[in-house]
Amino acid sequence: MLRCEILLPDKGFFGHERECYRFSLTFSGFYTILARVFPHNTSVFQRPWGGSMQAILDELEAKRKQARLGGGQARIDKQHAKGKLTARERIELLVDEGSFEEYDTFVAHRCTDFGMENDRPMGDGVVTGWGTVNGRLIYVFSQDFTVFGGSLSETHAQKICKIMDMALRNGAPVIGLNDSGGARIQEGVASLAGYADVFLRNVKASGVVPQISVIMGPCAGGAVYSPAMTDFIFMVEDSSYMFVTGPDVVKTVTNEVVTAEELGGARTHTSKSSVADAAFASDVEALTQTRRFVDFLPLSAREKPPVRPSNDTATRIEMSLDTLVPANPNMPYDMKELIAKIADEGDFFEIQEAYAKNMITGFVRLEGKSVGIVANQPMVLAGCLDIDSSRKAARFVRFCDAFNIPILTLVDVPGFLPGTSQEYSGIIKHGAKLLFAFAETTVPKVTVITRKAYGGAYDVMSSKHIGGDVNYAWPTAEIAVMGAKGATEILYRSELDDPDKIAARTKEYENRFANPFVAAEKGFIDEVIMPHSTRRRVVRAFSSLENKMVDKPNRKHDNIPL
Ligand code: HXC
Repeated sequence: MLRCEILLPDKGFFGHERECYRFSLTFSGFYTILARVFPHNTSVFQRPWGGSMQAILDELEAKRKQARLGGGQARIDKQHAKGKLTARERIELLVDEGSFEEYDTFVAHRCTDFGMENDRPMGDGVVTGWGTVNGRLIYVFSQDFTVFGGSLSETHAQKICKIMDMALRNGAPVIGLNDSGGARIQEGVASLAGYADVFLRNVKASGVVPQISVIMGPCAGGAVYSPAMTDFIFMVEDSSYMFVTGPDVVKTVTNEVVTAEELGGARTHTSKSSVADAAFASDVEALTQTRRFVDFLPLSAREKPPVRPSNDTATRIEMSLDTLVPANPNMPYDMKELIAKIADEGDFFEIQEAYAKNMITGFVRLEGKSVGIVANQPMVLAGCLDIDSSRKAARFVRFCDAFNIPILTLVDVPGFLPGTSQEYSGIIKHGAKLLFAFAETTVPKVTVITRKAYGGAYDVMSSKHIGGDVNYAWPTAEIAVMGAKGATEILYRSELDDPDKIAARTKEYENRFANPFVAAEKGFIDEVIMPHSTRRRVVRAFSSLENKMVDKPNRKHDNIPL
């Protein structure tokens, strides 16, 4: 190797020559130092083997340009023709302008089978790095479908693992933009190992940093399990799909004929399977909404959620809420109206809007601080608890608790949904999930019962008994074991053929139990409040709970009925 020796004089304090240091440098090291000392005049340092410093920089820029082209212009055009953005265009939209720092731009795969050694595109099908969303750090990986269909190779997985490790160390969310043909077929088991490395990190990061998956193309086979272990999955309508086995295999095995969209498209997963938490019409909308969503979350479980300045006054009165609950207890009303009227500026980010609509989950801000909403929806199935709604709310409650997001529970629940289908499918275990989830939370919890709170569902919906911190009821609340009609039919079975007697008994039961005061007498309700002052009451309750501390039992982990 060519080496040169340079004698560098070291000036003493008074400028005299004190001694000489001897450096041994390679030629390229020497020119690197010169370039650092004279950064603006690189062209004067001609390398002895030809080419200027400028040429080196140009070479780097050319390499970067090449890398940015991924699988080439023709494949980029194909991606655009499908209405999809490229991996880099997606990142540009996700993060603040100019904030993206890319890592591993020049990583290439190491596969030598099937002639792969002759095709080693830079980046290897995934763009990774970090950026900011409204000034807050996030780590991102974005699969590049133009490079081997975004398929996951050993090195592709290593890039993802690297930024996941960084996110964990530095306490910031990981956002995955998924668009991939799955395991890199040419790499075989090395690719499967890569997936497993990612899976392990998904689990290690769970409850430490928020993980969000945005599915923007294919996501099939075992590849679905990484998003499945993240906290939220968003999908793009008509261009993304997720399934363990595709339509062809389904046809072979079960003889069912189904399209990819029907089997695993955004509508299927947001309304039928509950695998996905939201669907958006396009790449642009999905990324814009992901930015909005990130604003509700803390960067990690080490932090409290962010506070966003709000012009909405905490004392805002909403007189219309006094008439929200209809006089007829069997008439529905829209619980989302109450949510909008409580929330800062009416802003509500709903999670799983199209699934188990009898339960509403999502995020609002109160005095600028994120709060998770869990609410029964009387408009659907009278707001009762069933398997789907219990599972939906349980997972949401656990996310909020893991990330220090207080929970506001709005209750109008006539009980658990009866029927063989529910019982055979395990409503006992699934309902217990919600009960368990609420009971194990330590975040501040405020509950407002607007109307019905019957039976076991009263206990489950963040009642005082399982850890509700401040529990309010509207004067329209009915807190009882069951509705008056059901109760009298059981208690006075012998009088059932006398309608007048039964009507009188029902009235008597209503007068005694169809109100919040029996529960309030016992201290199970902290106060009966005016509906119009709900926002003020709830905001003040949460502010009183800011420094809540709870001792947790010493154990490895609990055993939620999965
Ligand atoms: C290597 C792949 C690839 C893969 C696609 N490509 N999938 N290369 N490994 N898994 C390449 C194609 O060869 C093609 O290269 C380019 O990506 C685009 O693919 P097309 O087929 O032209 O695109 P399209 O018609 O849009 O179809 C997309 C697709 C299809 C539906 C994803 O490519 C496909 O079915 N791929 C195979 C999917 C699969 O079976 N994967 C393995 C699943 S098992 P050129 O050079 O022509 O552009 C799995 C196990 C994970 O993932 C286990 C984890 C535990």
